[in-house]
Amino acid sequence: MPHEVVLQTNLPLPLFGRGKVRDTYDLGDRLLMVATDRVSVFDVILGDEIPDKGRVLTALSTFWFERTRDIIPNHLIGIESADLPESLTNTPDTVRMLADRFMLVRKAKRLDFECVVRGYLAGSGWADYQRTGAVCGVKLPAGLRQADQLPEPIFTPATKAETGHDINISLEEMKNSVGEDIGQAIADVSIAIYRAAATYALDRGIIIADTKMEFGLLDEQLILIDEVLTPDSSRFWAVGEYAPGASPPSFDKQYVRDWLTSPASGWDRSGPLPPPPLPPEVVERTQQTYVEAYSRLTGLTWA
Ligand SMILES: Nc1ncnc2c1ncn2[C@@H]1O[C@H](COP(=O)(O)OP(=O)(O)O)[C@@H](O)[C@H]1O
Ligand SMILES: [Mg+2]
Repeated sequence: MPHEVVLQTNLPLPLFGRGKVRDTYDLGDRLLMVATDRVSVFDVILGDEIPDKGRVLTALSTFWFERTRDIIPNHLIGIESADLPESLTNTPDTVRMLADRFMLVRKAKRLDFECVVRGYLAGSGWADYQRTGAVCGVKLPAGLRQADQLPEPIFTPATKAETGHDINISLEEMKNSVGEDIGQAIADVSIAIYRAAATYALDRGIIIADTKMEFGLLDEQLILIDEVLTPDSSRFWAVGEYAPGASPPSFDKQYVRDWLTSPASGWDRSGPLPPPPLPPEVVERTQQTYVEAYSRLTGLTWA
């Protein structure tokens, strides 16, 4: 039986926030984070849903939370339906809808930075490098091409803007806000997680070009929060498709982006109209991409 698709949830709990992908509910000292099947590109949430996307994001996040626990503690408490609040477990339809797409987590004081690690030159890193020869104040060798591997992974934080685009900043600027010790710990932990994950993924045919993490404080302790090492928070490239000098296709919303920017969609990104509905084949190929990332990384078949 195909899994239910979920564009938005309306649970009988206080809403903590609705993000681009997750509906998060406030349970006091815990949060219930529900990954929907929403897809956002160019900071716009589309009207379409991508089947399996929310479940893949949850499965991959929990996979990596387990695997990075030796580097840093994280917010994950559980993903079992039995752990849901009673007001939900009384309703079997809700439990079914939520199954495998939610995480119960410890609520932390979020540090408002996107903690990005880059092992390759892509996206805003490539743009900054072309302009300045550096990324977030980290000077890089001359003559690098788009998608080239960097000599060492670099930590390139950005501010976490509520609206609009994140702005790349230097580690020093982040330290000015969170303090020297916490700032350095975040940079060190981010790089350690990236190195471990990138080595693991490469053996399974995936290059992790870059990834974004979020951290929070709980009882003065630094913990990893939000989602981690998913196709939405990272740039995954297939080893077989990798060639420096151009941007390799990434394991996420590439088909959606490509279609929306093609003449076929008829969509004007700078105009007032929302994006048109996605053709079924774009939805299907995107779904397959997320599932493929899951299978390669976990070695498991998507059920
Ligand atoms: N343990 C936590 N404590 C507090 N806030 C968290 C925690 N984990 C994640 N968050 C926040 O919850 C929200 C998750 O929703 P999401 O859809 O990912 O939002 P966004 O559109 O900002 O990416 C984000 O704002 C994230 O920073
Ligand atoms: Mg997010």
